[in-house]
Amino acid sequence: MTTTDTVLQQIVVPFEYPVSFARGVFKPENPLLADTLCRKAEVRKHRAIIFVDGGVARAMPELVSSIKAYGDAHADRVEWVQAPRIVLGGEAVKNDLMGLAGIINNLVERKLCRHSYVIAVGGGAVLDAIGFAAALVHRGLRLVRVPTTVLAQCDGGVGVKNAINLNGVKNLVGVFAPPFAVLNDFDLLKSLPERGWTDGIAEAFKVAIIKDRAFFAWLTAHASALRARDEAAMEHLVRRCAELHLEHIRAHGDPFELGAARPLDYGHWSAHRLEAMSNYKVSHGQAVAIGIALDAAYAVAMGWLGVEEFELLFKALGEAGFELWHELLDRDRNGKLDILQGLHEFREHLGGELTLTMPKGIGAAFEVNEMDHNVIARALARLKEMARK
Ligand SMILES: NC(=O)c1ccc[n+]([C@@H]2O[C@H](COP(=O)([O-])OP(=O)(O)OC[C@H]3O[C@@H](n4cnc5c(N)ncnc54)[C@H](O)[C@@H]3O)[C@@H](O)[C@H]2O)c1
Ligand SMILES: [Zn+2]
Repeated sequence: MTTTDTVLQQIVVPFEYPVSFARGVFKPENPLLADTLCRKAEVRKHRAIIFVDGGVARAMPELVSSIKAYGDAHADRVEWVQAPRIVLGGEAVKNDLMGLAGIINNLVERKLCRHSYVIAVGGGAVLDAIGFAAALVHRGLRLVRVPTTVLAQCDGGVGVKNAINLNGVKNLVGVFAPPFAVLNDFDLLKSLPERGWTDGIAEAFKVAIIKDRAFFAWLTAHASALRARDEAAMEHLVRRCAELHLEHIRAHGDPFELGAARPLDYGHWSAHRLEAMSNYKVSHGQAVAIGIALDAAYAVAMGWLGVEEFELLFKALGEAGFELWHELLDRDRNGKLDILQGLHEFREHLGGELTLTMPKGIGAAFEVNEMDHNVIARALARLKEMARK
């Protein structure tokens, strides 16, 4: 005889984290950072360790001393456990397993506990890698993200994902772990080179295409101004794009992506593959621009998106500074287009059935479970031809 007695354990854990839009976060006279660390009103000094993106430290040589001065000015409430540690910037940090081990050791050596803070200052790659390390030590230290690229401020930096790359596969190893807080400091964007400034525009188009027709119209009208570093325009983009991402994570019912659908990854199946194929020489935003243009061309071929809307998108992405063709898109792998491997990797990463988000006109989306390889090839040919012109 067998018996079964099953208890269905249900746990509901509310998560909350403030996302602030500010300027001068590390100016000693600005209380925001200290206030943020003291948000839980615990009576004690708040210990924190700070990691700074190497590219950011180079571009803003005064930043590290400013962070130190901030600690001195707020010494009654916060304690930096060591001088800010500079880490590799860009995708290199996510490809460096030994470096990650060094960061984890650093957190352990400095005896950071679950009530201490890890403050990550940098682009999306540094935030992903430091966030991953922070989530592992003692099963999770408090992470404060200070994103320094447009993309990180409007997309990756405000979400709940952390990851590194392994075996040439993007984000193969990672965790869902909401941050303690996010501080978006618009002043930190000023030192960005062109790519770091324009890359986030691709994510803004991505989320606008699937969620917000009015924002899409605004983006197409401001594409040139955004590229020309119109600060007011970029501030609007960051704010609206971050809001759309936050709203999605909060209200779409699947913040930890337990289901197979991932609308915010519209255009990303080919983007992630292209990044890896190029050995990460093609930046994430540039790859996403191609990815959303490719899937939009596919959607046109399938009758889901109008030609005029596609042409508007194509033109605006070009005005925003993106190339919409890359020679690797033609590369062959065992008699098949290499880029198609991205579909396979995307499905593997999600588990279950392949689920891809496609635009339904502009501002709405739906899910498909397969893509026709011949139609993809035709969409690629269309992109190539249009980019040539
Ligand atoms: N976790 C998520 O949900 C999520 C979402 C989207 C993207 N991402 C990840 O984010 C990464 C891309 O991030 P990114 O676009 O922010 O670029 P990045 O982090 O790769 O940085 C690009 C370059 O800019 C430099 N840099 C950063 N800020 C600077 C500044 N203010 N001034 C001068 N140089 C600066 C960096 O050192 C680096 O060399 C990818 O790895 C992507 O997978 C994660
Ligand atoms: Zn992205």
